Amino acid sequence: MLTNSMNRYGCISIGLHWIMALMIFILFGLGVYMVDLDYYDPWYHRGPHWHESIGVCLMVLLIFRFLWRLTNPLPQLNGQAWEKRLAIWVHRSHYFLMFLIVITGYLIPTAEGQGIKVFDWFTLPSLNPLFGIEKYNNDMVGNIHWAGAWSLIILVALHAAAALKHHFVDHDTTLTRMLICTPQKEKQP
Ligand code: HEM
Ligand code: HEM
Repeated sequence: MLTNSMNRYGCISIGLHWIMALMIFILFGLGVYMVDLDYYDPWYHRGPHWHESIGVCLMVLLIFRFLWRLTNPLPQLNGQAWEKRLAIWVHRSHYFLMFLIVITGYLIPTAEGQGIKVFDWFTLPSLNPLFGIEKYNNDMVGNIHWAGAWSLIILVALHAAAALKHHFVDHDTTLTRMLICTPQKEKQP
């Protein structure tokens, strides 16, 4: 029930999928909102603090999820051959973009050598003193972060539309097996 099998996702994969999806939507909304605030707005400091703190938690979950995925069976995809090929590449792109966003996100506030204070629990140190990477172009890293975030959200919209199409048009188990983590029988064709 916790781990994946060849025809269903386990509770861990399902839990991680939805918790991280929620975190990504919050991070995206907060990111867009906070960059336009003026200095006297109470969220001028609070916004980035929350954005960075939730972002670091996402980074930890992402590393765990990636390892979990590598060490668990991948349920067989539903649909025609081209849909399966497309889904594989979309899922890979999700991971690529999530890693790109958290890495660039980490590099932006740590460029000057200061760490990220995560919810006042602990400080994630900057890598600068270790690798001397302070010379990178922070504007470019910010642009990659922005482009990565928008690409992910657009791709996720297509991904969600595909999931709804599987559910309402094809009437297969694609969406339900990502929602419910009890052992369920596959629908016979
Ligand atoms: C470790 C994780 C993350 C950290 C440390 C982080 C940090 C930051 C920082 C410091 C900024 C301000 C950049 C600037 O002022 O130009 C920012 C902006 C932003 N972030 Fe993140 N972020 C993280 C993850 C994410 C994720 C997962 C998303 C959502 C997909 C996201 C979406 C955004 C957006 C949309 C902006 C606004 C970009 C703009 O309009 O310039 N971030 N982030
Ligand atoms: C930021 C938001 C999202 C991200 C990053 C994301 C990412 C992923 C990834 C990487 C997978 C492959 C399985 C895995 O490795 O965990 C997956 C599967 C899936 N996602 Fe999402 N997802 C998001 C939001 C959504 C939404 C909003 C829906 C539905 C409305 C959805 C429905 C599904 C379904 C049904 C599967 C199973 C696909 C299959 O087995 O064929 N996802 N998602």
